[in-house]
Amino acid sequence: MPEPWEALESACKNCRECSLCETRTNVVFGVGSHDAEVLFIGEGPGANEDLQGEPFVGKAGMLLDDMLAIIGMKRENVYIANIVKCRPPENRDPLTVEQDACIGWLRRQTALLRPKIIVCLGRIAAMRIIREDFKITREHGQWFEKAGVQVMAMYHPAALLRDPHRRPEAFDDLKALQAKVRILCDHTEVY
Ligand code: URA
Repeated sequence: MPEPWEALESACKNCRECSLCETRTNVVFGVGSHDAEVLFIGEGPGANEDLQGEPFVGKAGMLLDDMLAIIGMKRENVYIANIVKCRPPENRDPLTVEQDACIGWLRRQTALLRPKIIVCLGRIAAMRIIREDFKITREHGQWFEKAGVQVMAMYHPAALLRDPHRRPEAFDDLKALQAKVRILCDHTEVY
């Protein structure tokens, strides 16, 4: 029997495995449907997420919602989580030691969810999930197979806010995601 989501979430919310627990307001466990077939993975909570305890609720999150809407998806029917569950101070990249301490939570979430598709949002998630030397500018939008799961990386929505000229490439990646969902997924709503 897999452990229930509630047990995993409450254990995660008490985690003190790295020093990010000293400065966090909330553990940002993850959000979405436990039946989701598509898992989106960001890098770590920012200031808004730390305050609200939910991933992607700031400006980047609003853009992520818009990106999902383009392909007929909603955050309620996918699952969204991060590589690290607690905010790195000053929005710095999470350190390897912090990622190592935290990655077990994401592994356990993934084991419960058994997604068909994983989308890495940005370089940090792609380097952790796909390949250590992943190059987001060259390899975004490409599909990789990891343990039977189809995995791709897209530009992080925060990068698209900083660099709007990358948006056409992100649009192509969204269409590639939509096509893959249509092939692999039974009940994700994509119109
Ligand atoms: N950026 C991320 O990578 N994750 C969040 O939850 C918010 C912003």
